[in-house]
Amino acid sequence: MEASSTPAQPVDLVDGFGRVVRDLRISVTDRCNFRCTYCMPAEGMTWLDRAEVLTYEEIERVARICVERFGVDSLRLTGGEPTVRAHLPLLISRLAALRLADGRTPDLALTTNGATLRNIAGELRDAGLARINVSLDTLRRDRFLAMTRRDELDNVLAGIAEAKTVGFDPVKVNAVIERGANDDEILDLARWGRDNGVEVRFIEFMPLDATNEWERAKVVTQDEIVSTIGAVFPLEPVPARGAAPADRWRYADGRGTVGVIPSVSHPFCGDCDRVRLTSDGQFRTCLFATDESDIRALLRNGGSDDEIAALVTRAVGAKWAGHQIGQVNFIRPNRTMSQIGG
Ligand code: 5AD
Ligand code: SF4
Repeated sequence: MEASSTPAQPVDLVDGFGRVVRDLRISVTDRCNFRCTYCMPAEGMTWLDRAEVLTYEEIERVARICVERFGVDSLRLTGGEPTVRAHLPLLISRLAALRLADGRTPDLALTTNGATLRNIAGELRDAGLARINVSLDTLRRDRFLAMTRRDELDNVLAGIAEAKTVGFDPVKVNAVIERGANDDEILDLARWGRDNGVEVRFIEFMPLDATNEWERAKVVTQDEIVSTIGAVFPLEPVPARGAAPADRWRYADGRGTVGVIPSVSHPFCGDCDRVRLTSDGQFRTCLFATDESDIRALLRNGGSDDEIAALVTRAVGAKWAGHQIGQVNFIRPNRTMSQIGG
């Protein structure tokens, strides 16, 4: 039998700036059942061919190498919309079975638009999913239709409720705020989160939309969001976010927490611990990276685990300091959010 090439001791994946990678975001599909205006055009998205998309075996192999060899302890499933891929619980159960060299289970989370969650939350939980984030940008039905181009608000709300019922705790809700679209709902969303025991995380609008709608003036900053909420519901900062992208506050009256992901106004690149695998098997060290490494070619041409690990190490070694949104040298990546994975 061939000797196992897995080293007994995992090696940290360190980039040129001393940041250690702990989190792998895996996009399982580029497809989606919504067409959010800040993400996709109404029509005319071209999808990957099935054969281009990594199989669950291939995804599991890359994840296993990252977890076992490099101590990656956080796996996040994204899309497109991950739940539109067939048999997602199968992948979840395989990833949930992975173990770090020290025996720990990696934290396994999913980001979803929630459209089908009402029916599948229990199944996802049973498969071993630990945490769930649902995207919800508005509580108004007409606006939901305008922003996602789908009339699914009731289903999403029911899905969030079901996720709580089956035991996901906390359930987090992501709300992208775009000036002129939903910035008048910051307070309503915050109140709804308080009333429903959900941590709402407001996300600054980023230049990753398919239709080039983004402009600086449409970004509602963290400072604005926090002062809008804090004026009505006093807030206290929760210290030390570490590598997590969200800054968090707790409501002074004890009614939970709220977060902001200030990608544009306060980039958190200096603490970044993330890398990404796109659904077509490209390894990216940043959402905004302008280059990627072809893991799929290795997977499909007989590459060994050592070779895959070497590609990962090389790519991480070349990771840049951070994106430069809003500065003259910012270059939009040639893929959009749904093609990379959120
Ligand atoms: N800016 C900020 N967030 C975005 N998302 C999608 N497109 C953008 C954008 N242009 C969010 C989704 C989801 C997460 C995966 O990414 O709303 O919450
Ligand atoms: Fe789909 Fe998410 Fe993009 Fe909306 S933001 S179209 S839910 S992938």
